Amino acid sequence: MAEERGGDRCHVCPVWMAYTFDNPFRRLFHRPERMFREYVKPGATVLDFGCGLGFFSIAMARRVGDQGLVIAADLQQEMLDRLARRAKRAGVGDRIRVHRTDADGIGLSAEIDFGLACWVVHETPDIPGLFREFASLLKPGGHLYVMEPKTHVSEDGFEEMMSAARDAGLRDVASPKDALSKTVVFRRPIDRDYSTAATGETRSSRSRRGG
Ligand SMILES: C[S@@+](CC[C@H](N)C(=O)[O-])C[C@H]1O[C@@H](n2cnc3c(N)ncnc32)[C@H](O)[C@@H]1O
Repeated sequence: MAEERGGDRCHVCPVWMAYTFDNPFRRLFHRPERMFREYVKPGATVLDFGCGLGFFSIAMARRVGDQGLVIAADLQQEMLDRLARRAKRAGVGDRIRVHRTDADGIGLSAEIDFGLACWVVHETPDIPGLFREFASLLKPGGHLYVMEPKTHVSEDGFEEMMSAARDAGLRDVASPKDALSKTVVFRRPIDRDYSTAATGETRSSRSRRGG
């Protein structure tokens, strides 16, 4: 998914590579309407983080309907421009808001019912920070669906990422089968205060130190 850039430690999937997996053959493996049926409801607000060319954003825009919203977020403006053109052609352009992130985080102010991070977490520089940000954006009871490519992420690497999500206060609820991906679905518990999640501080840690 990723290509080394100029010898530094950033690995980001280039636009040309996204066409190798965002094409009609992908539906042999990924059927978004089935995968997210349980989690994405009409009227929902959804975040597709690392959306690329929009394989999932466009499918989720159909699912949320005209009362819903998909925020398609990516580091690369060119991905977002191409996604916006595709969404318009698919007739769902008005339900998708594109958002350009910077490398340090999502940088959004929103309340989301569902988040998707498909084949992107291993490309991000601050994985614990990313999950803390996700936890603070999710509504109580909201879900985060994380998929990482089996070809690029080892069992140990994936387990380390999932531990970071749990440390951010998210709870595992499912591990859907996927031929191409290691996958976990998390839920934000309804009784936890994430207002200071970006600092890693929780209500219990505040009360332990008397805050
Ligand atoms: C392998 S592609 C996956 C695209 C899409 N999720 C899919 O499944 O078709 C990874 C995407 O994540 C984006 N990305 C990488 N690092 C990112 C970051 N820190 N913030 C936002 N997007 C990022 C890349 O620009 C690329 O579009």
